[in-house]
Amino acid sequence: MKYSELSKEDLLKEFKNQEHKLAEFKAENLKLDLSRGKPSEEQLKLSLGLLDAVNSKSNTKYDNINCLNYGGLDGLSQMKQIFADMLNTSADNIFAGGNSSLTIMFMVLNNLLINGTHGCKPWGEVKDRKFLCPVPGYDRHFQMTEHFGFKLIPVKMNSDGPDMDEIEELIKNDESVKGVWCVPKYQNPTGIIFSDEVVERFSKLKPKAKDFRIFWDNAYCLHNFNGNDKDIPDIISLCKENGNEDMVYEFCSTSKITFPGAGVAALATGKNNLQEFKTYIKYATIGPDKINQLRHINYFKDINGVRAQMKKHAAILKEKFNAVYDILNSELKDCGIADWTDVEGGYFISFNVTGCSAKELVGLCKDMGVVFTPAGATYPYGIDPTDSNIRLAPSFATKEDIKTSVSLLCAAAKYLSLKKLLNK
Ligand SMILES: Cc1ncc(COP(=O)(O)O)c(C=O)c1O
Repeated sequence: MKYSELSKEDLLKEFKNQEHKLAEFKAENLKLDLSRGKPSEEQLKLSLGLLDAVNSKSNTKYDNINCLNYGGLDGLSQMKQIFADMLNTSADNIFAGGNSSLTIMFMVLNNLLINGTHGCKPWGEVKDRKFLCPVPGYDRHFQMTEHFGFKLIPVKMNSDGPDMDEIEELIKNDESVKGVWCVPKYQNPTGIIFSDEVVERFSKLKPKAKDFRIFWDNAYCLHNFNGNDKDIPDIISLCKENGNEDMVYEFCSTSKITFPGAGVAALATGKNNLQEFKTYIKYATIGPDKINQLRHINYFKDINGVRAQMKKHAAILKEKFNAVYDILNSELKDCGIADWTDVEGGYFISFNVTGCSAKELVGLCKDMGVVFTPAGATYPYGIDPTDSNIRLAPSFATKEDIKTSVSLLCAAAKYLSLKKLLNK
């Protein structure tokens, strides 16, 4: 029954009940963490074979170069092909680089800030430059553009992607709006997938700024865990078809396929952007770590190898996400104090409390020994105007720890919501 419909007497009874539960949690001296969106030890072990995929006896010649030496600025051909197949695009559109897609995003932004693009004024000279941030979203995206002096403009996120009416309106007449962050598949943190219609509307945008760019971070392109993966349309070819060939930069990496921090990352974009990026990046590096690329090629062979690996990740992640849902459904479904996204892939669930403050809730859980992502982290400047969103990240913890952490979250949410209702 909804808490808002309970009598004062029942509210008080339930409040005492939750207070008692919290006291029990407190006595357990918990030290748990559900804030880290990274693979578990068990997932990392899936890729241990990668470490043997190049050794002193391996043939290190590839594409007519010795991977042990300098060269090959945009990566090995088969690595590019694997990324192209992951993103449903052509290998001609790919730059296969180093170990982090965030670094590539940073470098792309850097280039646009310093040099500008297609003859437009460098973004660094645009005083009131703005970047659109669908919310809730990925804190590191927001922090990167904040760091580079952009004003961050929140945009509402619907269940099928960002609110396109809002985006179209915001970019229509304002030349200082230079870009938008997107995670189109299993978005961080809502886990939603952009609909075909949303992807198409992105490709048809008519921004006032000729140098407006979509930052399409497809970090979770293969990360379905329910066995029902659905491809989203290829934004690069759609943009091209709609006369916007240079409007999109797409990013991805093997961070959550092999080893975070020791994988391979890629940029996919149209030929002009790619040429421009290579012209810029050649001042920063003579070439990427080709040995690591070769390791990935030898280990996976092709996209089928990657897909087989993702099935193994899926089996591990599915159980953990189900553990979260089992508890949320049994504890909170009927209370009317919270809702959450029902995701089929990626690394996160977006949990919204409506009965109490998210900040207070995360604080109370921390006092009880369980760390969640700080409330507000999913919003520009760390400010969630409704103080309701909390990102749940179940991948790293064990199933038992997930159960305990989410049970505590539910008890604490009930306790704070009941307290608020009783104080009304
Ligand atoms: C949406 C998104 N993009 C990028 C990253 C980091 O990617 P990389 O390790 O390739 O820098 C993450 C990590 O959580 C992420 O969630």
